[in-house]
Amino acid sequence: MGKKFHFVCQDCDHEIDNFDEWFGNGQQCPSCGGKHIRTVYHTDKSRLAELVRGGQRLESMWHYFDFLPLNKAENIISDGEGVSPMRRWKFLEDYARDRYGKILEVYVNRNDYSPATGTFKDKGGSLAASVLKEHGIKSYVVASTGNTANAFAQYLAKAGISASVFVPQDSLRENFVHIGALGQKVYVVKGDYAYAKKLAADYAKKHNILISTGNLDPLRLEAKKTTAFEMKRQLGRMPDVYIQAISGGTSPLALEKAFDDFKDTGILGKMPRMIFIQGDRCDPQVQAWNKAKASGFPDGWENDYPVIENPITLVPTLATGNPVLYPLLAKLVKKTGGEYFSVKEEMAVDMARLVAYEVAVKIGPASAVGLLGFFEALKHNAIQDGEMVFINIGEGVRRAVTFVEEVSYTTEQITDLDDTERFDRKKYRSFVWKPFENY
Ligand SMILES: Cc1ncc(COP(=O)(O)O)c(C=O)c1O
Ligand SMILES: [Zn+2]
Repeated sequence: MGKKFHFVCQDCDHEIDNFDEWFGNGQQCPSCGGKHIRTVYHTDKSRLAELVRGGQRLESMWHYFDFLPLNKAENIISDGEGVSPMRRWKFLEDYARDRYGKILEVYVNRNDYSPATGTFKDKGGSLAASVLKEHGIKSYVVASTGNTANAFAQYLAKAGISASVFVPQDSLRENFVHIGALGQKVYVVKGDYAYAKKLAADYAKKHNILISTGNLDPLRLEAKKTTAFEMKRQLGRMPDVYIQAISGGTSPLALEKAFDDFKDTGILGKMPRMIFIQGDRCDPQVQAWNKAKASGFPDGWENDYPVIENPITLVPTLATGNPVLYPLLAKLVKKTGGEYFSVKEEMAVDMARLVAYEVAVKIGPASAVGLLGFFEALKHNAIQDGEMVFINIGEGVRRAVTFVEEVSYTTEQITDLDDTERFDRKKYRSFVWKPFENY
């Protein structure tokens, strides 16, 4: 069997043979010490056309095995990740039509369906566990605001690999107790996400354990790039607009990788306009973008961004105060003609109520931020009549019990029947739409 893939250092073009060399060298380029490598496949690219053909029923992202960096299928650790349905949400289309006179097709990626942990981080967890298993690695370290931590902890547990997880202290409690329940190790760090990342790196060094290298780690990027394949497979064509709540930026950079890999084949088509959303209490990327835009994108604009230390936010899952990948993300937004918007975190509960009322889907706070972004994008005329819009919501509410408690609004304590009245859910319609009347 020929070799399936190799890596190329993005700083010096040095070729790295395989994961053994990459891991053995401390996940740094042996030639220049660079940490950003690109996975290059030897598989015939035209094969993707067959894989993304519509009408197939897939079990997991491992349908795309030929374009994932694992050598032997027997090492796959999977739990049905990466094939979450993309559903058309008519109430969002009706809103765009009634309020702005725009006829849209709006699809939402239901990552809350992902069997393992109910987030789009399951893909990375599955690939990481599979590759680590293939290379006989028994211990791993990861820092995360919560969802990646959960996905990695769970898949690594399935592979019998020890996971040491570092989460910042403001992470949702329900998010990290699940990791502890699996018998993986959780360190709740007194400090922000940036500090949790630092302690995780120090711990990995001290104990000589491999650590997830962050948003550009091939174990995350290569898994998440399959979302581009799924868009093509499920929707038949690429949407015009892609909307997502952004934190570190793995998902969009992974999509960019997929489009770059297959650009000469024409299989995936044109990359959508990227619209990135941040919560208003931790939105360094939006601030940087607005500043650059206002000053006409002067030379080096992409390197000018603020760092928010110890952000205090209602959506800690998204709170990357030091967005080190902003230079790459902002260039991607510019290249695709996209935008950055900030939304009110206080409205996450309103958004979750509206969605639960209209489509009976319970979304988590980070997903609510992404969906608020759709309203914001419409308000700023960033979506045009006739376009197909794709909203990548990252999570359900499986571990956000406190959030659901806030979203819930119909509970009444009663003593006898006189306290009740015949229930008609229609009476709540104006209540759930009220916060959006003057959006
Ligand atoms: C639910 C959810 N949405 C969005 C994001 C942002 O992901 P990224 O910026 O890495 O693409 C995260 C990451 O923590 C998340 O958990
Ligand atoms: Zn190099």
